[in-house]
Amino acid sequence: MEISFKCCNFTIMFFIPSDFDIKPGYFRHESSLHGALHTYRVMCHVLLLGDRMKLVHPARLAFCAAFVHDMARRHDGFCIMHGPRAAKHKVPEFMPLFNKYGFTNEDINSIKTAVSNHSQYFELRKDHPHYLVTSLLKDADALDRIRLGEGCLNTKYLRHEVTLGLKDFSRNLYIKSEQVTVSGFADMLNIASKLWNTALFP
Ligand SMILES: [Fe+2]
Ligand SMILES: [Fe+2]
Repeated sequence: MEISFKCCNFTIMFFIPSDFDIKPGYFRHESSLHGALHTYRVMCHVLLLGDRMKLVHPARLAFCAAFVHDMARRHDGFCIMHGPRAAKHKVPEFMPLFNKYGFTNEDINSIKTAVSNHSQYFELRKDHPHYLVTSLLKDADALDRIRLGEGCLNTKYLRHEVTLGLKDFSRNLYIKSEQVTVSGFADMLNIASKLWNTALFP
């Protein structure tokens, strides 16, 4: 079942935004660095990457992966295991949500791979069936490194050239979203949609 959200300009957006609101208890360790706002921004980056790259289904899967990707962190420090933990525990926790949107077993496997790999050093081979979904999540996550400060995004590690062009967008999304109250994913989506309509993307 496809559900479109008419207030949103992103072509791949077929989710009901409130389905992806982050509620108390979702995160094992919620923080300002890896909490709801970071997650919402990464979800928006995925939508925008999908839009710019004209990828629909892989971006929908990466969007779901972004939703859970940092939920199993135990702390804000360096940790390569929070991805595999989230794939193991958080993806199953949200299966009722993913099932609502009709994802197949293979779709869920792609989401799990992306979530698991996002905190790992190794890159999937480009011919891996889950490479595209994983690379979308990793680039989308990297774009929010702007929250750590200017210069914290090393562009040589990005996987897609398109991502480079979204640096200004990600900076603006970070700044705006930290200035206002964001009480759900729809709020972040509205900020992102307004930025999308500005001169940055004529
Ligand atoms: Fe992470
Ligand atoms: Fe993250």
